[in-house]
This record gives sequence, structure tokens and C-alpha cells, in this order.
Amino acid sequence: MTYDELRSKIEQIVDPGFNKTLKEVNGIKKLVVGPTGVAELEIYLKDKSKYEQQMKIQIIKLVKIELGFPGIKIDFFESEFIPEGEKPIKYLAIASGKGGVGKSSVTANLAAALIRQGKKVGIIDADVYGASIPYILEVDVKPLSSTEDEKMIPLNKDGIEVISTEFFMPPEKPLMWRGPMLGKMLVHFFNGVKWQEGIDLILIDLPPGTGDVALDVKTYVPKSKVLVVTTPHVNAANVAVKAGLGAQHIGHDVIGVVENMSYYLNPCNQKREFIFGSGGGTTVAKKLGCELYEQIPIGQPEEGGYLYKSGVTAKAYDAIAKKVITEMEI
Ligand SMILES: Nc1ncnc2c1ncn2[C@@H]1O[C@H](COP(=O)(O)OP(=O)(O)O)[C@@H](O)[C@H]1O
Ligand SMILES: [Mg+2]
Repeated sequence: MTYDELRSKIEQIVDPGFNKTLKEVNGIKKLVVGPTGVAELEIYLKDKSKYEQQMKIQIIKLVKIELGFPGIKIDFFESEFIPEGEKPIKYLAIASGKGGVGKSSVTANLAAALIRQGKKVGIIDADVYGASIPYILEVDVKPLSSTEDEKMIPLNKDGIEVISTEFFMPPEKPLMWRGPMLGKMLVHFFNGVKWQEGIDLILIDLPPGTGDVALDVKTYVPKSKVLVVTTPHVNAANVAVKAGLGAQHIGHDVIGVVENMSYYLNPCNQKREFIFGSGGGTTVAKKLGCELYEQIPIGQPEEGGYLYKSGVTAKAYDAIAKKVITEMEI
């Protein structure tokens, strides 16, 4: 058995997520045979968490039993292959470090602004500790329906599609049980949702913090980009820098920074009053080596609710949306 023969046998195995052979989907990341005859394999799989076990058994059977190799070592990675004619789903995670800086507000308002620019948008509300997207958008929460191949159909509010941890969590569930459940939910959010045809961008409202969820996002959506939200205050800025650096460290591209609650626009003299201090956004952008997109003033939407539909704030969100469109190439 030569190396080429071994390779071509493995290439004929079907990646069940794509229903195509590993050859067709460029599924072999690495294949080497060591001096003792042990085969070392790295395989790209679509929907790794679902199919890893079954593929492992199939490959071991082939390599050890049928082909008689003395040993095998296999690692699996999530596939980034895009079948021809399919548009890749793009993701932008919204991160902040600290809670309460307006991350969910920015996520929802950015989604609305992208819709105003004619884009098709969805939100994954992954902030399991403080899921608030359904409330901000005033989504009429009802049981989700699913497609024939058991993909969840998201709820839709004014054109924004939404999947939230809150749809799957009993309302009184204590916080300490929420974290462990999130990992399981994320798998379904990234692989088990039927978004609208031709969706341009999915925003992910991350839980505050720097750690494990960003890592999970990296696993499921290796190419997700990140937008960092901070307030002008130095405390929020310091934590936002850490969140951003963490994201960069694991290989996410931070595209920009939004400074929220930047100033109060005094209605009497139209002067900006920097009641929470200033400089947070600039500092964060500088330390992360990206642009400060906008400064969002303090104030509630004139129309009521949580979405700014007119005025200075709506304009600022329109400007952010345009930058996101350019940066994400959507
Ligand atoms: N620019 C703003 N002006 C006034 N209130 C704001 C602004 N941004 C957010 N808020 C309010 O601050 C609170 C926290 O915002 P939220 O988006 O839930 O933060 P996070 O998701 O970071 O925890 C909410 O009550 C929200 O309505
Ligand atoms: Mg929030």
C-alpha cells in the first residue's frame, strides 16, 4: 500500500455534513505515515460535533482493519469549505468585556441600520446570562418551528431574524446552570438554523467577558469578525481592551470599536457634555489597532422602545452599518 493509495482511499470517504467525498470538499488537512507505519490524520468536517464519532470509527476501520496499518491518530477540525453556488454565511460577534455598556443595544440597532441599507440580517443572542435581544426588538416569542431536515426557523421582527438562548431556557433557571448549557446551544445556533435565503450577515451578541464563549465561536465560526463596544469610562475601556486582545489572540479579526453612552447632547445649547468621562473608545481602538467607528450619545429613542429610528443616534448607527458593510464585504 503506497501513500498515494492510502490517500485516495481516504479521499473516497463521504463527509456526511456536505454529503460529498473528502476529496470534493478538500477534507484532508494532513496525512502522514510515520516511520513505524502509524498514520497521522487531520480531517476537516462539516458539523464536526455531530459527525466526528461516526467518521472516526469509519476511518479507523478503513485504515487499521482493511488496510492493515499498525496505528492511527486522527484529529478533526470544523470545515470552512463552501460548496459552489452557495453563499457563505458571514458572522460578526459583538463583544464588550463589561456588561451594561450597551452591547445588546448596539447589536439590535446595528441590525436595524443594516436593514435600512437593504441587507438581510440575523442575530444570535448568545448572552445566556443576560439575553435581552428579544426584549429590545419586542419579539413576539413563540415556539420555533423547524424544517423537514430539523433545522430551527428563527423568529422574525421587522425583517431581523433572531435566535436567542432565552427561547430554550426556562425563565427562572438560575444563572449557574446557564453557562454549561450554552455550549450545547451554540452548536445548534451555528449549525442547526435555517436562516432566510441569501442572508448577508449574522450578528452575535456575546456574553460579557473575555473567555470561553469567544473560544467556542472560534471553533464553530473560525472566520467570525468582532466589533468591540465600550463606554468612555476608563474601567469599561480596560476590560474592552482585554476582550478585544483575547479575540485577536485566538485569531479573530477585530474590525472596529463603538463607544456608547459617549456624551449627553444638551438640548438647550446643542453642546456635548461628557458626563462619563472621555477617551475610552479612542484608547480601545488604538490598543486593538483598529478604527473607532462612532460615538453614540446617551438618550432614549424619541419614538419609544429601544430602536433609534431618527435623529443623531440613528445617523450614527447608519454610519456604523456602512463601515460594517464595507469591512465585511456584504
Ligand atoms: N446610548 C444609550 N443611552 C441611554 N441608555 C442606553 C444607551 N445604550 C444602552 N442604554 C441602556 O443601558 C442599559 C444596558 O444596555 P444593554 O444594551 O442591555 O447593555 P449590555 O448588553 O452591554 O449589558 C439598557 O437599559 C439600555 O437601554
Ligand atoms: Mg446584553
